[in-house]
Amino acid sequence: MDKNQALQNKRDASLVGGGQTRIDKQHEQGKLTARERITQLLDENSFQEIGQFVEHRATTFGLDKSHFPGDGVITGYGTIHGRLIYVFSQDFTVLGGSLSETHAAKICRVMDLAMKNGAPVIGLNDSGGARIQEGVVSLSGYADIFFRNTRASGVVPQISVIMGPCAGGAVYSPALTDFIFMVEETSYMFVTGPNVVKTVTHEEVSSEDLGGAKTHAEKSGVNHFTASNDVECLKKVRDLITYMPQNANELAPQPERFSFNPSKFELIKNIIPENVNMPYDIRKVIDCVIDDESFREVQEDFAKNIVVGFGRLEGKTIGIVANQPAAMAGVLDIDASRKAARFVRFCDSFNIPLLVFEDVPGFLPGTDQEWRGIITHGAKLLYAFAEATVPRITVITRKAYGGAFCVMNSNSLGADLNFAWPTAEIAVMGAKGAAEIIFKREISDAANPEEKLLEKEAEYAELFANPYRAAERGIVDAVIFPEETRVRLIVAFKMLENKAETLPIKKHGNIPL
Ligand code: HXC
Repeated sequence: MDKNQALQNKRDASLVGGGQTRIDKQHEQGKLTARERITQLLDENSFQEIGQFVEHRATTFGLDKSHFPGDGVITGYGTIHGRLIYVFSQDFTVLGGSLSETHAAKICRVMDLAMKNGAPVIGLNDSGGARIQEGVVSLSGYADIFFRNTRASGVVPQISVIMGPCAGGAVYSPALTDFIFMVEETSYMFVTGPNVVKTVTHEEVSSEDLGGAKTHAEKSGVNHFTASNDVECLKKVRDLITYMPQNANELAPQPERFSFNPSKFELIKNIIPENVNMPYDIRKVIDCVIDDESFREVQEDFAKNIVVGFGRLEGKTIGIVANQPAAMAGVLDIDASRKAARFVRFCDSFNIPLLVFEDVPGFLPGTDQEWRGIITHGAKLLYAFAEATVPRITVITRKAYGGAFCVMNSNSLGADLNFAWPTAEIAVMGAKGAAEIIFKREISDAANPEEKLLEKEAEYAELFANPYRAAERGIVDAVIFPEETRVRLIVAFKMLENKAETLPIKKHGNIPL
């Protein structure tokens, strides 16, 4: 046979993965195949495959008779919006996308290339975990990947897209990466599946309830972004990557065009309610400050009392962390602290300036939080902000009480600028609670204690329920009108563009994990 024809035949054979029947099954379930996913993810005709003919070397349990070119994972590189991306896509039609020694080696190869060349790695995961027939060599393959995930953390962005039932080792690699996408009803993540759960704990639980997209978006916080199908999911990945630099030595790309609807300068004036105890949606404030349609919320359904996500100011990527008065009054709890801390770490790793909107009544009190370690978890957020060297600005829209004031990127924690709106209240606690403590005797001795409490509350509020005591001490740098916020921020981030701050020399810090 002609040698060129032989190559063509080999290529053609590798395209069918585990065979047409299994491909049909994949489609019936509403899933794309591994190759179709790559086509959707990357720019047209940009994919360059490597390792197409790699095969496993196992001989046990009949594997010597079943060989699949590529061994269940398609690897290579291509571009998204013209920028280099490394990719691997697991093929569930080949032995359930399970990870063999050689399958792992293929993934490691693209990760090594990504590290050397400074470009993101996107993993499309659809795998039953370690290939059971191979035993320990497949486990060792996972450890090779985990090692690289960890070494690549903070060097190049790593994104995991979960597009099928992922179990065992197939969930730990994603957990080590920066962001996880899941597809509703077709993707699952669990360390052990429902059958093992039933055997060990006698719990009856469906795959969906145990580890579906909704569960991980709302309950565990493992899932950062949810999509309703494969195509939508891969579009979302293409979009998110535009907010990130290629690696830790670069800045995020800046789109040529941006827009800002000037009516938002008016809208922003009326967001804060008259009554300080009334909620409002902080996302309205965010929307009125950043470029039109530029907000990409991360972990939207988890710890809703804090909002985190990417946005743009005149086209430049910023990371936004904002207390959400519309959920649990914006209080800081364990989940909110963990969520925000991890986001701050990502932004700081990849030179993305941080913008904080603060309206926080404090940390959530109670035995549940204390016994589960709010002290350690809250400290994560303190640590993440205090260690971040990217430009950091806070805007206090309303409450900035107690320890939460310190945590939310205060100047003393190393922020570059703190602005406050006229509605800001910067104090150790709310006026009522403060009056009850410091005027306790006076109130109880009064002829009318209720009246006395109101009087003392008003006295405390007069003194502290405003931004001016903080401004007098330079604890906030400027009190600004809400409608000034966008322009103030644009100019301030420009002023901070060349910020160069280095941490003390050390091996690494000891974040309260
Ligand atoms: C080898 C596997 C496999 C695996 C699935 N298959 N998982 N082959 N090793 N880990 C094969 C099946 O035998 C089957 O082959 C085909 O893939 C499709 O699987 P089905 O079970 O028919 O599909 P489905 O019903 O959709 O269920 C998918 C699944 C299930 C939920 C992933 O297959 C499953 O529970 N697999 C085992 C998961 C698991 O326990 N993995 C942990 C491995 S240990 P045929 O030829 O019949 O079509 C591990 C430890 C790492 O990963 C530790 C890191 C810290």
